Amino acid sequence: AAAEKGGYPSFMAKEIHDQPRAIADTLLGRTDAAGHLVLDEMKLDESELRSIDKIVVISCGTSAYAGQVAKYAVEHWCRIPVEVEYAHEFRYRDPVVNQRTLVVAISQSGETMDTIMAVRHAREQGARVLAICNTHGSTIPRESDAALYTHAGPEIAVASTKAFLAQITACYLLGLYLAQIRGNKYADEIADVLQQLHEVPAKVQEVLDGLEQVRALARSMADTRSVLFLGRHVGYPVAMEGALKLKELAYIHAEGFAAGELKHGPIALIEPGQPVFVVVPSPRGRDSLHAKIVSNIQEIRARGARTIVIAEDGDTDVEPYADTVLRVPQTSTLLSPLLTIVPLQVFACELATAKGLDVDQPRNLAKSVTVE
Ligand code: G6P
Repeated sequence: AAAEKGGYPSFMAKEIHDQPRAIADTLLGRTDAAGHLVLDEMKLDESELRSIDKIVVISCGTSAYAGQVAKYAVEHWCRIPVEVEYAHEFRYRDPVVNQRTLVVAISQSGETMDTIMAVRHAREQGARVLAICNTHGSTIPRESDAALYTHAGPEIAVASTKAFLAQITACYLLGLYLAQIRGNKYADEIADVLQQLHEVPAKVQEVLDGLEQVRALARSMADTRSVLFLGRHVGYPVAMEGALKLKELAYIHAEGFAAGELKHGPIALIEPGQPVFVVVPSPRGRDSLHAKIVSNIQEIRARGARTIVIAEDGDTDVEPYADTVLRVPQTSTLLSPLLTIVPLQVFACELATAKGLDVDQPRNLAKSVTVE
């Protein structure tokens, strides 16, 4: 087993370090020489994809947060409404889907029972179903109309890491492809985003090369009982996933929430010393977003929170209000989850390790939930 872990102490640590490759492999071979996306493997014809008027993403757990990131990107690029719903909620409802709905089922294993049942539920109502999946030959892609595979490689640790980044990458490809064939974006705009996407693996590597700070932070927090995570826009699903990782791996009570909801409840939880991670969007571009979150950090700090801020290189605005700043390289806001989630994964993994827990096999959890 030691050899399979490639010199890392756990599969989880190995898989976290494998993330630049997981993203690069998921991008590989999907653009032609002219910079156009080629996703013929999906086997959904273009005229069909041009006629869809709604996308519904169904998934569970970490895969559901990939879907939430996709919503921001796909709606922005394609102007198609995107709903994101847990498969176990979707399957017991009477959802409004029809032949013009593209249902996207995201699953690492392809065997999650609730997602399988939701796929069947959607197809019975005439929806086209596309699986975004990491496992060839598994049930979900077999039962779908089409499949777009993530190339993260086998994921052994129960809690998902590299499959998550590969799923987000595949969702970006899908969004850009839809924008391309539906004419929502000019070819050079799409090429520009693709170029930035191809630069992401090296940036993830940069984050991985500078982990000592977050590791030391995690070790110093082994006695922590509760951690909050705050984000806006694409930082919101990142905050949710950061909280999920900490629950799964370190058994610490953790909650992720949208920063805009602070005043509607969560701020009542802030007492002196309460650790709060804040995922900060790029200060370039959507500037009101950045200013809003800086003022959120200020608000919680004024109430005694211990603020741990994940911010872009060069963002000095956060410094006066941050107890700790964890840096990530610059990229566009929509692509930033591929970078900002990494310190949160490492934090959870390292803290669990400091508590002496088995990060690959957390208690009560299964890699694939094949029962109801
Ligand atoms: C389980 C795993 C999670 C995973 C979720 C969805 O809860 O422990 O890591 O995100 O199932 O699994 P799927 O294979 O459908 O992505």
